[in-house]
Amino acid sequence: MYAVVLAVTALALVGSGSAQPQPCCTPNQWEATMVEAQGYVQNMQPKTLVGTIEVSYDFDNKKMAFNQRLNNSGTPILVKVIINYNEGKMYSISGGVCTELDAPTPDMPQQCISAGAMFERTMRLGGPGGLEVNSFGLWNVQGVAYGTAQMTSRDCLPVTEVLIAEQTGQVLGSVQAIIFDGVTTGIKDPSVFDPPSPPCNSIPDAHHQESRSVGTPFFQRTLGRFAIPVF
Ligand SMILES: *[C@@H]1O[C@H](CO)[C@@H](O)[C@H](O)[C@H]1NC(C)=O
Repeated sequence: MYAVVLAVTALALVGSGSAQPQPCCTPNQWEATMVEAQGYVQNMQPKTLVGTIEVSYDFDNKKMAFNQRLNNSGTPILVKVIINYNEGKMYSISGGVCTELDAPTPDMPQQCISAGAMFERTMRLGGPGGLEVNSFGLWNVQGVAYGTAQMTSRDCLPVTEVLIAEQTGQVLGSVQAIIFDGVTTGIKDPSVFDPPSPPCNSIPDAHHQESRSVGTPFFQRTLGRFAIPVF
């Protein structure tokens, strides 16, 4: 009898151990440099959007910061964005000019693989002893895109993402690849969230003018639109 109970218990443990990875949320504080390359078609012309976005994500203190250094087919996009959800404020700093806007959403979205995402496979990157990641299929990102995201198996930190959109507004096709470089947990220097002083110019209720989100299903939700230049 005991042997049977033990055997059943052992089987149950083995069974739970082999359960497939579930969609997960990132840790509450991390920083990374998103290295991104995107190709899209607009007015029958092929365009490219390449560059880096330094990201600081602090869900504990409800703050985010992005430093975008992008090249949109020859037009530079050099914008720092700070969002303080406690204050309901977003600061956009470009060309030495700071503009204060309303936060894009009242609540800070937590950065998670959505519950409906489908686990694809566990992969080991970079050879023996390399990084183990879980790959998830993404559908209906912002209602327009689909793709795949890879998160570290151990901590659910972002590793890579590929997104494909067939049509968003006047953009007919878009493929975007993102690598999260130098991911660290915690916030090295909380002053990254400080808006510049003297205070920003205030444009109440003008967050709709924010022309571009940053390129991941996670952060798109933060700024509320798909990561293609808006025309
Ligand atoms: C920006 O991209 C264009 C191609 O779209 C390229 O010709 C140009 O050299 C790039 N500029 C920089 C500073 O990398």
